Amino acid sequence: MIIDIITIFPDMFRGPFTESMIGRAMESGLVDIRIHNLRDYAEGRHKVTDDYPFGGGAGMVMKPEPIFAAVEDLVGQTAPWGPDGPGAGTRVILLCPQGRTFDQFAARELSGAERLVFICGHYEGVDERVRQALVTDEFSLGDFILTGGEPAAIAMVDAVVRLVPGVLGHELSAVEESYSDGLLEYPQYTRPKDFREWSVPDVLLSGHHENIRKWRREQSLRRTLARRPDLLAAATATAGLTEKERLYLAELESGGGRDRAETGHGNVGDGTGRGDAGDGHAAGDSGAQEKKGSKHG
Ligand SMILES: C[S@@+](CC[C@H](N)C(=O)[O-])C[C@H]1O[C@@H](n2cnc3c(N)ncnc32)[C@H](O)[C@@H]1O
Repeated sequence: MIIDIITIFPDMFRGPFTESMIGRAMESGLVDIRIHNLRDYAEGRHKVTDDYPFGGGAGMVMKPEPIFAAVEDLVGQTAPWGPDGPGAGTRVILLCPQGRTFDQFAARELSGAERLVFICGHYEGVDERVRQALVTDEFSLGDFILTGGEPAAIAMVDAVVRLVPGVLGHELSAVEESYSDGLLEYPQYTRPKDFREWSVPDVLLSGHHENIRKWRREQSLRRTLARRPDLLAAATATAGLTEKERLYLAELESGGGRDRAETGHGNVGDGTGRGDAGDGHAAGDSGAQEKKGSKHG
């Protein structure tokens, strides 16, 4: 995959893209990330990339000419594009707080592209004609305003690149983690088994794979209900919730409300044993998530 980033602050990408997983993905040739200084495409002695807004008002607006010149140079075509965009598999993305909210589904979608071109805005944003004729997608990181598109591009590239086949060491990690199937991930533990007054749930030490799978699924459901109940409607399709699991969630909600679906410091359960008897969901251990001297009673 080729990723082009058009920015007036190329140095901002130095650390994030040379370290860790992205650095390794670049070294192995799975992705090629190219940073382009927008000023190189600006005309005149001063290489100006912004100007005052027509109609007045505070701040500056990024000029269209250098942005068009940069994108057209990279994709080898002149805008406007045909219905397929600037070439099959190429997406021209504007980072923009007014765009579609970026999420794991979008990350997965973009990870299948051959080429992504990111345009980082600044000041009051970019001239409207960039949106009208040049970009194929506008993505927002969330309902807040950043100073510029660079941190958003870094976050998006990170989320997309780790889904490119071959980048993650363990491909299952991307399948099991939060949001990938519409649910939040189950709690994770590592050594030591006992840390201060908190112990790892017995089921995880049992070596019983089916019980561990059930416990994790139940924890995933409980956690999603407690923290992100909004995800559950869509998760019915994406996470393949069974009728039994839907009933279990309804029971949890009516029994103790969402707040009780997940309690406990440090991801340790509430010890109620709720759902661990007779309904076939739990691993028989969810109530035994150990917490010596629980703060929560
Ligand atoms: C200060 S913002 C401009 C905000 C613009 N005046 C508005 O109200 O929509 C400057 C640039 O930062 C980037 N940016 C700011 N917030 C963002 C967000 N939530 N997601 C993605 N990019 C963002 C965009 O590239 C934007 O052009």
